[in-house]
Amino acid sequence: MLELRSVSYRYAGYRRLALDRVDLTVADGEIVGLVGPNEGGKSTLCLVAAGLAPGSIGGVLTGAVLLDGESLAGRPTHELAGQVGIVFADPASQRSGIAGTVFEEVAIGPINLGLPVDDTVARVRGALAALGIEDLALCAPDRLSGGQSQLVALASILAMRPRHLVLDEPTAELDPEGRRLVEDALASLARTGTALLIAEHDRQLLASLGARLVAIDGGRIVPAEGAAA
Ligand SMILES: Nc1ncnc2c1ncn2[C@@H]1O[C@H](COP(=O)(O)OP(=O)(O)OP(=O)(O)O)[C@@H](O)[C@H]1O
Ligand SMILES: [Mg+2]
Repeated sequence: MLELRSVSYRYAGYRRLALDRVDLTVADGEIVGLVGPNEGGKSTLCLVAAGLAPGSIGGVLTGAVLLDGESLAGRPTHELAGQVGIVFADPASQRSGIAGTVFEEVAIGPINLGLPVDDTVARVRGALAALGIEDLALCAPDRLSGGQSQLVALASILAMRPRHLVLDEPTAELDPEGRRLVEDALASLARTGTALLIAEHDRQLLASLGARLVAIDGGRIVPAEGAAA
């Protein structure tokens, strides 16, 4: 379970609150769709929920972000990675740049966890299979289409087997075929008990996933009715 309790956040060097007393709970196996206007605070909430803000990018946070009841505050990024994964809209920004093949790219996370080779291979195969991209295993990561790249980024996160997944417009760069693959993968992930928070302009995707909609505007949670798909 992912919980934000009265979370306020400001970016480093800014006075204005980007998040203002946000309360949000994503239960195990639940899909929450985060909607709202541009600059509303969706991406900021994603960064905060994944512990990157303030953990990696700084800024000031008050309130509490809890994973299964435990605060994220002060926990190192490598420790968080096995518990909460984040996927962004731009696949290129998520590539390591050091892997020669998709298989190696997806293996980087598990290798960094110090897992035995057998476990690493099983995780990579499982992540590729979950997204239907086993046939990309030997491709060069920088030679894929945008949609394929995004699936590889998602596979890299799935290989860490996080129980919470935060996705910031994960289908923005995908064609309809890629979007379907991601949608299926997200639905089956939710069935395994993973908590999913998805910021997304594409209401169709959220509707077909059966997501509970939460709207954010001006950094505050607002009623979702008007914003409902
Ligand atoms: N790195 C940053 N530094 C300072 N302010 C930022 C930063 N990123 C976002 N903001 C500000 O925080 C507020 C919320 O922006 P955010 O990107 O979270 O909105 P969003 O809902 O994701 O918008 P979009 O739909 O355009 O992706 C905006 O006022 C924005 O200008
Ligand atoms: Mg955004």
